[in-house]
Amino acid sequence: MTEVEPSYTTRPLTADTWDDFAALVEANNGVWGGCWCMGFHPEGVGQGRTPTGNRAAKRAHVDAGTVHQTLVYDGDVCVGWCQYGSPVELPNIKNPAAYAKGSVDPPAWRIGCIFTGSRHRGTGVARAAVAATLDAIKEAGGGIVEAYPEQVADRGPQRGAYFHTGPETLFEDFGFTRQRQIAKWRWVMRLDVVP
Ligand SMILES: CC(C)(COP(=O)(O)OP(=O)(O)OC[C@H]1O[C@@H](n2cnc3c(N)ncnc32)[C@H](O)[C@@H]1OP(=O)(O)O)[C@@H](O)C(=O)NCCC(=O)NCCS
Repeated sequence: MTEVEPSYTTRPLTADTWDDFAALVEANNGVWGGCWCMGFHPEGVGQGRTPTGNRAAKRAHVDAGTVHQTLVYDGDVCVGWCQYGSPVELPNIKNPAAYAKGSVDPPAWRIGCIFTGSRHRGTGVARAAVAATLDAIKEAGGGIVEAYPEQVADRGPQRGAYFHTGPETLFEDFGFTRQRQIAKWRWVMRLDVVP
């Protein structure tokens, strides 16, 4: 029997798709215990933040139009996402001090967190999410896109759970190249998306 790759579709996170996104987050315990994908947004997560507050903050960004997020669907079910946005929309990257030290011209866009529901991992959801995100960026005028993925090579096998910002190999496949290292296993990678 021939194995057929699942064919995923994508839609942006908006008020219309909020319920689909919320169902995925809720099915995964709020994601990291309730971050609701708020870590890169200006409010951040952590001390003083609650899962309920994070959910409300995310919804408020959706209503204000200050979210760029590609949702991936298997049929009618949202199974993953890729968050992106301008540095103003997503100011809170990991390793900010190391990043600031070697800071060069800011990118037009950055890719924040990537997530695939636990039952759909390893089936191309993240790949579909990044592909659609780069298409959307191209449509929106293109420019330099930064990602902050985890190194995969020369390292033991890692569970997907540790790759909040995605694996480096995924971004390499789309043409991103290493710009500089900001943590033992994390790199700034860049791609110039031509509109
Ligand atoms: C990392 C993660 C996004 C990968 O998603 P995925 O849908 O399973 O990835 P894909 O199937 O599209 O894989 C694309 C490529 O990524 C790489 N990859 C994916 N998972 C990997 C892993 N565990 N180790 C090494 N490389 C991996 C491979 O290069 C793969 O390409 P290949 O299948 O041709 O080898 C997923 O494991 C995940 O969601 N982890 C949790 C991250 C998280 O908590 N995010 C929220 C942060 S707030």
